[in-house]
Amino acid sequence: MVPCPVVLLSVAGEDRPNIITLSWVANVCSNPPTIVAGIRRQRHSYEMVKNAGDFVLNIPSTDQLDAAEFAGTKSGRDFDKFKECNMTPVPATKVQSPMIEECPINIECKVIKVESAGVHDVFTAEVVAVHIDESVLDENGRFVTSKAQPFTYLPMNGEYWSLGKRLEV
Ligand SMILES: Cc1cc2nc3c(=O)[nH]c(=O)nc-3n(C[C@H](O)[C@H](O)[C@H](O)COP(=O)(O)O)c2cc1C
Repeated sequence: MVPCPVVLLSVAGEDRPNIITLSWVANVCSNPPTIVAGIRRQRHSYEMVKNAGDFVLNIPSTDQLDAAEFAGTKSGRDFDKFKECNMTPVPATKVQSPMIEECPINIECKVIKVESAGVHDVFTAEVVAVHIDESVLDENGRFVTSKAQPFTYLPMNGEYWSLGKRLEV
């Protein structure tokens, strides 16, 4: 399926927290709000998420593209990705994993199920808190896509794309 979202999953760790870029992520239920994330078992983050039992999905803006590429190509086994990506871990409200301060949207999630789907395991998680930076809201508190500037990934050719213009119906 294309396009895919680009999210930065942040997770608590014994030595240090980590960030992994994910695209195999989807909303799957509104009530209770639930998401799924497919994570390969060999990722450093895989064991971290299993141990923590929670994580935060942070939605980056286009100006965080380099950080997304770094967190998606380098391992937390070798790098402190918060430091290398110039990102700041800040405490979440309902989970032990930290949020990324620089991302305009932070979604706190608690893992409720882990199942093998083959090379990836599917983490099903309930959304327990959402934070949206005021800088991406209008005066009525409504989300402004052009301010948040989320971007997408096309896995078949490894390209990142920004969102185009709004389609009117
Ligand atoms: C745009 C993008 C999307 C990715 N999506 C996923 C994904 O959904 N699941 C996954 O297991 N790895 C995905 N990866 C690969 C991991 O982010 C990458 O292997 C990372 O270096 C693992 O870091 P870690 O070892 O610190 O966990 C993606 C990479 C990129 C660049």
